[in-house]
Amino acid sequence: MIVVIDGPAGSGKSSTARAVAEHLGIQYLDSGALYRVATLIYLKAEKNKITFFELLKENKISFHFKDKKFHAFLNGTNVSEEIRTMEVSQSVSEVAAIPEVRSFVNDLMHKAVKQDVYVADGRDLGTAVFPNATLKFFMVADLRKRAERRLAELLRKGDEVTLEEVMDNIAQRDETDSNRSADPLKKADDAVEIDTSSLSFNEQVSIICDQIEPLITK
Ligand code: DC
Repeated sequence: MIVVIDGPAGSGKSSTARAVAEHLGIQYLDSGALYRVATLIYLKAEKNKITFFELLKENKISFHFKDKKFHAFLNGTNVSEEIRTMEVSQSVSEVAAIPEVRSFVNDLMHKAVKQDVYVADGRDLGTAVFPNATLKFFMVADLRKRAERRLAELLRKGDEVTLEEVMDNIAQRDETDSNRSADPLKKADDAVEIDTSSLSFNEQVSIICDQIEPLITK
């Protein structure tokens, strides 16, 4: 069974999905992290598309949810921190707009969720990747609120960025993610919209847990 949470950058979907998974004892899949690992490979290829496609085939991307965290690996090395830098954030939308990358990441996800109960977050999960998901949510929030959350995360990690830089990056990513031709960021018709601008973190987690819990048969 899979539950999906889509929404724009910084809407709180990753942290919410992670907390939901933790609370319900189910698996969590962070699809954005997989696009970020692909972006690391793109940067390694110095943005040369031919080299990038070769490296994408040769390199091994793997992941698991353990100790309350989604861990992403590139050739066995844990790159979960490295994929969160501004350098990766600045190129990830460009990489995620490449149709071959989307098929590659979608394939990884479909293989992973064959067994078990999953909550996954992304941009196009309810519309393109898992159109038959058991439950679909779409999280939204004001741009400033989203940027403030992302900034706090980056500052905690020691990244030297300003609120304006983060707002610009998020606004730009929203624009690219929503307007690309390959599976853009879009609310599925049957998704429940949750505006997190004025919800507390616990409230947003509870709203989702309350709907999933009755469907889980342990
Ligand atoms: O959730 P995130 O900010 O880590 O995602 C990084 C980028 O990956 C985001 O700008 C768009 C892309 N993405 C996507 O295109 N489709 C998904 N299902 C998830 C993420």
